Amino acid sequence: MALDGEISVFSGFSRLWVILALARDIRGDRLRSYTVAGERIVVFRDADGRVAALLDRCPHRGAALSLGRVCAGVVECPFHGWRFAADGRNCHVPWNPDARRERLGATPLAVREAAGLVWLYTGAAAEAEADADNQPMPGEALLRDDVRLCAQSVAWDIHWTRVMENMLDSPHLPFVHRASIGRSLVGWSDRRMDLRWQATRYGADILSQIDGAPRDGARLSYRFPNAMELRIDPPGRILRLLAVCTPQSPDRTTLSLYTVRNFARLPAFDALFRRMNARIAREDRAIVESSQPAEVPHPAAEKSVRTDAPTLAFRKIYLQRIRGGDDA
Ligand code: FES
Ligand SMILES: [Fe+2]
Repeated sequence: MALDGEISVFSGFSRLWVILALARDIRGDRLRSYTVAGERIVVFRDADGRVAALLDRCPHRGAALSLGRVCAGVVECPFHGWRFAADGRNCHVPWNPDARRERLGATPLAVREAAGLVWLYTGAAAEAEADADNQPMPGEALLRDDVRLCAQSVAWDIHWTRVMENMLDSPHLPFVHRASIGRSLVGWSDRRMDLRWQATRYGADILSQIDGAPRDGARLSYRFPNAMELRIDPPGRILRLLAVCTPQSPDRTTLSLYTVRNFARLPAFDALFRRMNARIAREDRAIVESSQPAEVPHPAAEKSVRTDAPTLAFRKIYLQRIRGGDDA
């Protein structure tokens, strides 16, 4: 995907709306920097408090704008002090009052704040609204006004597709997580598991049965393009885990875990949920990172069985809609 005549960016992950951060983490005069598919992005709020994003690369000499500062809602580059507004417009070039500033802008990216999250479009800002089938679609739990959201991130050394498939895979639970979330399945693996991928507007629900009996204690969903939502509601309550797998580079992935809950809503309880999530992610990490090749291959290159249906369904979407979308 080429932006404004620049070299290609967001390679293998372009033209997608993806969850980037907790909205409340973008605040005040702070600049935040994120790496998505090989591209650094700087995120801040403009003078009206609206979230804004630019490629984190000054058009002058390529310095990271995120090392600069925000002055009245515009970003000042740390190197020679050029200033850029939320739409990339150049507002100031020190020492050069005669500069043709209209030609010296930074590259803006489309971002949107929805359901307590910041979403980024990995393509030209002008195209962000065009694709009606590919827009931010927060889950219904996130749209409630009685939920508390907390987040944590960790970086894994593997292609994002391996992380994503791990999140959609149930058969590994009693092996990798035998002492935690898979405990109740230990000793059950001689039975027959059936997993059904039911396509939805936002991606798919994965319905699971053991020996023909539906299991509805936990419900797993795939949310296009790179997220999993796990419904682990205790009776009468809401508890969801949203796992977002964002490529940094071909062999490094940010795994962001967002917990959504409508109980224990005091911020002090966040640490408890984070600890729980961190433990589960730790159990998966070394095993997922050991997978070869790092990027999920064509299905014919690996041996699969019936219970791999969800991961293979994701793989098809990946190859056709996500990686394939690059050439569009
Ligand atoms: S590199 Fe940004 S102003 Fe010179
Ligand atoms: Fe796991």
